Amino acid sequence: MPRLGVNIDHVATVRQVRGVMYPDPVTAAGIVELAGADGIVCHLREDRRHIQDRDLRILKEIIQTRLNLEMAATEEMVRIALATKPNIVTLVPEKREELTTEGGLDVIKFFSSLKKAVQRLHKGGIPVSLFVDPQKDQIKASEDVGAHAIEIHTGHYCDAKTPAQEDLELKKIFDAVAEASHRNLQIAAGHGLNYVNVRRIAEIKEIEELNIGHSIIARAFLVGLDRAVREMIELIK
Ligand code: PXP
Repeated sequence: MPRLGVNIDHVATVRQVRGVMYPDPVTAAGIVELAGADGIVCHLREDRRHIQDRDLRILKEIIQTRLNLEMAATEEMVRIALATKPNIVTLVPEKREELTTEGGLDVIKFFSSLKKAVQRLHKGGIPVSLFVDPQKDQIKASEDVGAHAIEIHTGHYCDAKTPAQEDLELKKIFDAVAEASHRNLQIAAGHGLNYVNVRRIAEIKEIEELNIGHSIIARAFLVGLDRAVREMIELIK
């Protein structure tokens, strides 16, 4: 069974829209660990739209499983990672205008800057994973850049509109997994995975870890809403 890393960014999203102190992603991380997750994932974005520097600092102190820091390969973020020392860094592409990470890194195009970032992080004792589309040439470049691991972008598989398109996207993931396995890279996968589409990805035995965020946080609203309303009614009474 692959490990589950839970991305808690969207707990912070709900907090940030009101500029208040709750819900705290740090508290959420504790609950996620108690529920049995194997790790916590958070993305410190350049625009700090959800996770804040303070969150990352406290997460590093309190997490008992594994902290996976997603970040862009910028000077600022490399400095923060080296100071924080998460268990692993996942380098992702980042655009200010995007709603969420929209695709994998172009490791071929940004080879030299990524190589420098990977080398600096490794020197600081931090393993590095690269978030890439399921393409053989990107996986080869990931190995050449010196990454320990890759995370395969499952977003196109998750967005498939027809069974045929889904099969096609899944085939790309199978091929990418075979390539990464052949190169001895550790393999994670994520983006867009939910309670319906996770099964076919979880069945791929070479994938060691699934990183899932939005669908879990969204479900938490629904499965927790009944209790939250009842608690408020009790207080009002
Ligand atoms: N993996 C990576 C690299 C991501 O950027 C994200 C989104 O932050 C996820 C996994 C989780 O995606 P989702 O929130 O769609 O489950």
